[in-house]
Amino acid sequence: MAKLKTVFLCSECGFDSPKWVGRCPGCNAWNTMEEEKISTAGKVSASCKAAKPQLLKEFTGPGEHRKTTGIGELDRVLGGGVVDGSLVLVGGDPGIGKSTLLLSAASQFSRRNGDVLYVSGEESAVQTGLRARRTGALEDQLWIMAETNLEWILVEALKMKPAMLVIDSIQAVYCPAIPGAAGSISQVRESTGRLLRLAKDHGIPVMIVGHVTKDGSIAGPRLLEHMVDTVLYFEGERNYAFRVLRPIKNRFGSIAESGIFSMENDGLVEVLNPSQFLLAERSQNVSGAAITACLEGIRPLLIEIQALVSTTCFGLPRRATAGFDANRLGLLLAVLEKRQGMMLGNQDVYVNAVGGFKLVEPAADLAVMLAVSSSFKNRPVPGDLVVMGEVGLTGEIRSVPHVLQRVREVSNLGFSKVLVPWGNLAELKKASLNVELIGVKTLSQALEVGLH
Ligand SMILES: Nc1ncnc2c1ncn2[C@@H]1O[C@H](COP(=O)(O)OP(=O)(O)O)[C@@H](O)[C@H]1O
Ligand SMILES: [Mg+2]
Repeated sequence: MAKLKTVFLCSECGFDSPKWVGRCPGCNAWNTMEEEKISTAGKVSASCKAAKPQLLKEFTGPGEHRKTTGIGELDRVLGGGVVDGSLVLVGGDPGIGKSTLLLSAASQFSRRNGDVLYVSGEESAVQTGLRARRTGALEDQLWIMAETNLEWILVEALKMKPAMLVIDSIQAVYCPAIPGAAGSISQVRESTGRLLRLAKDHGIPVMIVGHVTKDGSIAGPRLLEHMVDTVLYFEGERNYAFRVLRPIKNRFGSIAESGIFSMENDGLVEVLNPSQFLLAERSQNVSGAAITACLEGIRPLLIEIQALVSTTCFGLPRRATAGFDANRLGLLLAVLEKRQGMMLGNQDVYVNAVGGFKLVEPAADLAVMLAVSSSFKNRPVPGDLVVMGEVGLTGEIRSVPHVLQRVREVSNLGFSKVLVPWGNLAELKKASLNVELIGVKTLSQALEVGLH
């Protein structure tokens, strides 16, 4: 019988060391070595059929074969559908909707392409059945297997040769031949390796759910992300319905795409017009709100930014944000004080990006400043105006990237005016857009135009 030996594996790169070290020699990360027991029976040898050098130009054929999942937003993120034999990892916070997304993808996929095997290692078949009934994911060719032993999962998968295999989740399955609990580094690594072989040898696309750790990366070795073809993150604020599916890595498509969903009682719904969705409940002609156009991947989205400025009752003034970086807000408030003479030192400032959306782009600066100024001065921003622009420390308005896409979205949604950085004006004037363009160079110009 194979003996077990203790090794230390790096959770970042999978490097193994016979003794514990504080810093991984493989990737130089600190405190990432974890103790694991592995079998001394020897590793699986590589394929004995060696490859020969061949001319690359002979391999420029028709390209990979894709099948549609039936969920447009998911297909878009995958680069136009699931590629045969690809391994896709979907990560995200607990409860965000990974199982719901993959169950409906499995069901839609089975309707078009035949048998799909959904392996649930975390929930029972009954629980999954109830979810399927609630979300309308009951199809004749959708099979469920509540199992965590990967050997049996692979046996059934090879028997069935499904059009797609879903593993929910990789941290729940284990290989009995490998010591260690399910979810340990060696288990996750081995299970992914076996699923990869199944996908490549039989051309079966495999979708894997992966848990994320507290700091937001997928649990288990970083290696997992290297092994799979595509890594998607499913993100959103739990208390909001809005969800974004973002590719982090894709061997078969662009990572600039994004899929937008809304979590409803009867499952995930694709949001075909996200700007309209995000602006649905906005109130007009009140102070403290401005609309900006930001990019989610390459998709323009119109988002309402709200600010509330009120006199501090005691102690230090509070600055609180939701969906916007608090340090960036501090910087923008300092610019307002210094360049516009707005005395905010005795004011609490709250900023919120509506809909649970996270703004990471500096292009949203101007809208934040306009919303804050609007609330401070109690003067509303015109309801038909959208603003965009990065604000520099001297109060200058800097150009934003992909301005044309943003302004097209503004015009598509029926807004009549858009405040843009002066530097972007020339590019916009070349295009025929059904919206009035107002170019600004400085913050004071922007505030003059932007406040009623
Ligand atoms: N019975 C239900 N009715 C309405 N929504 C539900 C119900 N059960 C679960 N949900 C929604 O589905 C979410 C859980 O999704 P799930 O796919 O299980 O997440 P994950 O697999 O990412 O942990 C919950 O946060 C909740 O919003
Ligand atoms: Mg789940």
